[in-house]
Amino acid sequence: MALWIEKYRPTSFDEVIGQKDSIEKLKAMLKKGDIQHMILSGPPGVGKTTSAVVLAREIFGDVWTQNFMELNASDDRKLSVIQGKVKEFARSKPLGAPFKMILFDEADSLTQEAQQALRRMMEEYSATCRFLFSVNYQTNIIEPLQSRCAILRFQPLSKQDVFEFIDRLSKNEGLTIDGDAKEALESVSRGDLRALTNLLQSLANVSKVILSHTVYINSGVLDGSKIKEGLKLAISGDYSKAREVFLSILDKGINTKELVGQIFDIITSSEDILDKKSRGYAIEKLAEVDYRIVEGATPFIQFQSFLAFLSALKR
Ligand SMILES: Nc1ncnc2c1ncn2[C@@H]1O[C@H](COP(=O)(O)OP(=O)(O)OP(=O)(O)O)[C@@H](O)[C@H]1O
Ligand SMILES: [Mg+2]
Repeated sequence: MALWIEKYRPTSFDEVIGQKDSIEKLKAMLKKGDIQHMILSGPPGVGKTTSAVVLAREIFGDVWTQNFMELNASDDRKLSVIQGKVKEFARSKPLGAPFKMILFDEADSLTQEAQQALRRMMEEYSATCRFLFSVNYQTNIIEPLQSRCAILRFQPLSKQDVFEFIDRLSKNEGLTIDGDAKEALESVSRGDLRALTNLLQSLANVSKVILSHTVYINSGVLDGSKIKEGLKLAISGDYSKAREVFLSILDKGINTKELVGQIFDIITSSEDILDKKSRGYAIEKLAEVDYRIVEGATPFIQFQSFLAFLSALKR
């Protein structure tokens, strides 16, 4: 079965969601026939590699695979490779095109030494080759390379963008995804469309109907709204209902360390559920729970004692 990340990889600029500025810049370069060296920077899974490949297809047409080389982090990145394979590609004549193009995917991992070698190569072979670097952080590229490149900043995708992408896939694959499940998918993937696509494909293998709680279970991310609900119940004094909610969370074999972290985040960031003084007490208690669990105490009992503590706070 084909991987969805390949199946749904855009093959034209029109299919790329969001990234208006970067796509405009690429289109403008294409129109003027003036392709520069480039750094494509931005978070994972937002279309950097995709856009570079689309550009190569647009420039080279049928002969794009002959004129385009992609090196990813799994390829050897030692200086010897740069001086061998890369140099060989860069200096050889393009086929039915004015120049060739090479993409260093995940270029964050290129060593300083390798980057220094590339710096000289970019000057020497700029007539026959364009160099593209895809990175998560622009600062991982040495200054002299940055100054030789046009910088394209890829933005985190908005909720709207992610929903558009989910709709595209669900329509094509005949999936049923309700509003809650969409929210869940958006929240666990944090705008990374690669992660989202892989998660959706594995969920669809089991059922064409995607539900929010299966999204959370399969992604290993805890459902924040559920935890908050449990905490609120405890704070309102309803210990037994709070306990039930936490039981259903703990039932899923979750990472207790992560649960402590999420409780901490909720308590420190939600001013609506506890006043300042009580928040202080709660954090102190949570720190105790955290310590005891690390020391080997039973998480199940520890979380219950925390809920009991919260429900007694008001009195
Ligand atoms: N802007 C986008 N529009 C449409 N699909 C996208 C977009 N961004 C990512 N995708 C989807 O996610 C997959 C991965 O995208 P891509 O390889 O371009 O990510 P990337 O930005 O290069 O990430 P990384 O930093 O991890 O290399 C693509 O195959 C495509 O299906
Ligand atoms: Mg990439």
